[in-house]
Order: sequence, then C-alpha cells, then structure tokens
Amino acid sequence: MKNIHILSHVLIDHKMAKLRSVTTGTKEFRELIEELSTLVAYEALADIPTVEIVVSTPLESVTQNIIKEKSIALVPILRAGLGMVNGVITLLPTAKVGHIGMCRNEETLQPESYYCKLPANIEDKLVIVLDPMLATGGSAIEAINILKGLGVKHIKMMNILAAPIGLKEVSKAHPDVQVYVAKVDRCLNENGYILPGLGDAGDRIYGTK
Ligand code: PRP
Ligand code: URA
Repeated sequence: MKNIHILSHVLIDHKMAKLRSVTTGTKEFRELIEELSTLVAYEALADIPTVEIVVSTPLESVTQNIIKEKSIALVPILRAGLGMVNGVITLLPTAKVGHIGMCRNEETLQPESYYCKLPANIEDKLVIVLDPMLATGGSAIEAINILKGLGVKHIKMMNILAAPIGLKEVSKAHPDVQVYVAKVDRCLNENGYILPGLGDAGDRIYGTK
C-alpha cells in the first residue's frame, strides 16, 4: 500500500499512550488530539505546493520557498475530525476550512452523510481530509467520494489511529490519495471499534459519554 504513510516517532508513542488511557479526561484528550495532529501534519505537509520568493535578511537577499497557503483546504469529517483542525491550522493559518458531516450507522457500520459545506473553488485546491479514526474505512472512502464528485483532484488524508482493514479498503478505493496516520492498531471488534484503540473519539473529545 504505497499511499499509506505510518509515522514512527517517540513523541507519537508518548502522546498516544496518554490519549489511549481511560483515565485521560476530556480537556487533556482534546489537547493530545491537537498535538498529535500537528505531528502528523509535519509529515503530511512535506511535499505540498510551494512558491519561490525573495527575502531580504538584515545582511542580504535570499531566495526561499514558501507554502501556497491559500491553495490548501482542510476538511474535517464531523464530529471527531473537528478536533484536529487547530493542530493543523497552527501550521497553515490561512488555509480554508470546509466541513463534511458523516456518522456511522451503529448497526450496519455504513457511513451516513448529513452535512457538506466547502470553500469556493474547492476543485482547484489541495484538500486535506481530517479524521482521527479510520476503522472500517467507510467514512473516509465516502468523504473522498464526495470531494472527487465535486472535481477535487488533489487529496491527502490525516488520521491519528487506524485499523489495518480500513487502510486496505481506503488504499483500494482511492490509491491516489496519500494517507498519513500516527499509529496502526491490531483489528476491529464486533462493533467496529479499533482494538486496543482509544474508544469513541467524538465522545472523548466532546465529553458526550
Ligand atoms: C467515527 C470517526 C470516523 C468513523 C470511522 O465517527 O470519527 O468518522 O467513526 O469509522 P469507519 O472508518 O468505520 O467509517 P462517528 O461515526 O462515530 O461520528 P462522530 O465523529 O460524530 O462521533
Ligand atoms: N470510531 C471511533 O471513534 N473509534 C473507533 O474505535 C472506531 C470508530
């Protein structure tokens, strides 16, 4: 799966251990999701479009590459994906942000889309889809289908935790989308939850259970 990038870093292990723990409360969980998102973004943004400018230092001029920030849109999948936005936008302060609302049906595990509001000219942008959890892969595949249906050609995806089966499905459905994930776990349980996992990311971010 050439389009799947699994990060390896002691900082990710350290923060992941805290994120997983059942004793970690809502505030710390939210902060950890943000921090891990920044770490994943550092890797995911390594090859994004740049433009050359000339900068005058106090001593001389130098040619330097800078990011074409306005050509990038972040698209969190609601709800849990919203928890990643601050961690990424801190690196890309002028990126546009769109939203796709997607909820897994608890019985069928199929994604149901309930909201979509995207920046103008989305088809011309590099779109970075954000969702901390990639379990069956259904939500990610459907969100990417929606974006491609609108003419978006350049898509990346960032996740915090994934299951092997979900990564395989996304890779099969969208081999052109580069996926960056902080950690890959063992498997899914009978309810479609990642094991060992961290529980329900949306509920832990928003304190709804
Ligand atoms: C979670 C998660 C993903 C999805 C992953 O969202 O944030 O969007 O499940 O599962 P999948 O890979 O099997 O599709 P959920 O549906 O629980 O909604 P929420 O973010 O509103 O809590
Ligand atoms: N969604 C979550 O929030 N957690 C899982 O383990 C799987 C899907």
